[in-house]
Amino acid sequence: ENPQLIDTFGRVATDLRVSLTDRCNLRCTYCMPAEGLDWMPGDQVLTDDELVRLMRIAVERLGVTDIRLTGGEPLLRPGLEDLVARVTALSPRPKLSMTTNGIGLARRAKALAEAGLNRINVSLDTIDPELFEKITRRDRLSHVLAGMAAARDAGMSPVKVNSVLMRGVNEAEAVPLLKFCLAEGYHLRFIEQMPLDAQHGWNRGEMITAAEILEKLGTAFELTPFPVARGGAPAERWLVDGGPGDVGVIASVTRPFCAACERTRLTADGAVRSCLFSNDETDLRSLVRAGARDEEVADAWRATMWGKLAGHEINDAGFAQPIRPMSAIGG
Ligand code: GTP
Ligand code: 5AD
Ligand code: SF4
Repeated sequence: ENPQLIDTFGRVATDLRVSLTDRCNLRCTYCMPAEGLDWMPGDQVLTDDELVRLMRIAVERLGVTDIRLTGGEPLLRPGLEDLVARVTALSPRPKLSMTTNGIGLARRAKALAEAGLNRINVSLDTIDPELFEKITRRDRLSHVLAGMAAARDAGMSPVKVNSVLMRGVNEAEAVPLLKFCLAEGYHLRFIEQMPLDAQHGWNRGEMITAAEILEKLGTAFELTPFPVARGGAPAERWLVDGGPGDVGVIASVTRPFCAACERTRLTADGAVRSCLFSNDETDLRSLVRAGARDEEVADAWRATMWGKLAGHEINDAGFAQPIRPMSAIGG
């Protein structure tokens, strides 16, 4: 009964990533243009009731055990604290985490922790204020750092930090970022840049590879393989100078982890996707708004996941970027 979200390769999706909005208050150059994007019309964005219903179906009928809130920037969603409380009241209770740029978190971390949010990952590509402004087109580094500290102090630990390194931009930040994160007790992971930007400007030569990242870190630290198995996690981890501190690398392009993928995705406008890179999505919003029963929604979700491809095809000739950019899919 209640079959889970399985695909033809035998993978089971237990991890749901939900985008709460496609909007953001930063304009990272590798994500979107300075003027922003054509945001989703409000009437197409799922309401809180619709979101909670879909998450309830996921945990009650589809075997989802972990939910991650993403965006765009999820802190921009009005009433986020109430939504978090409603999600953590579901049964069985999912583990709930959020990926955010950290702006506004300083003020809200405690309330979010009290509402039941378990963990937070913050995006941070430099600890240099001027470089931060160059990359994000906003002068907000101090807000982000205060937000991270507040999340840690509210008990949402470990706070993880996601960094994208770009050639000729913040390459030199690898070592300073790791020193900073080790000192503050944050778990740093470097991410290979993927072809998901709105401008379609990604190019392989500009991507800093996992091998290069490890080489840079190797000049200042001794890295040894992390002793615990990685499971379906995107990050490969290394102990730094014998531990206990560690660093991760998410090598989505040069060492894809699709064979162990446990993820299913819901966009802010109610589409289910089996992969970041899939181009066919299923519009659950229309189904829900047409009055579908829980089991009909669950069946449509299962059918979408059954069609999940073996993996992304970034490294294949003829690869084409998905139509939606990362900010509209969910990070
Ligand atoms: P935890 O380690 O449990 O905190 O979660 P996580 O690493 O899955 O979460 P996070 O949202 O911080 O993801 C970090 C980065 O991993 C994302 O920004 C993506 O770049 C990458 N990532 C996450 N999920 C996928 C995925 O399904 N496919 C690929 N290729 N990359 C992913
Ligand atoms: N490739 C890899 N990571 C990306 N992010 C945004 N765009 C890309 C991309 N094209 C990262 C952000 C953030 C997380 C949600 O995804 O820096 O850390
Ligand atoms: Fe899973 Fe697709 Fe990401 Fe690969 S690219 S890990 S299949 S979501």
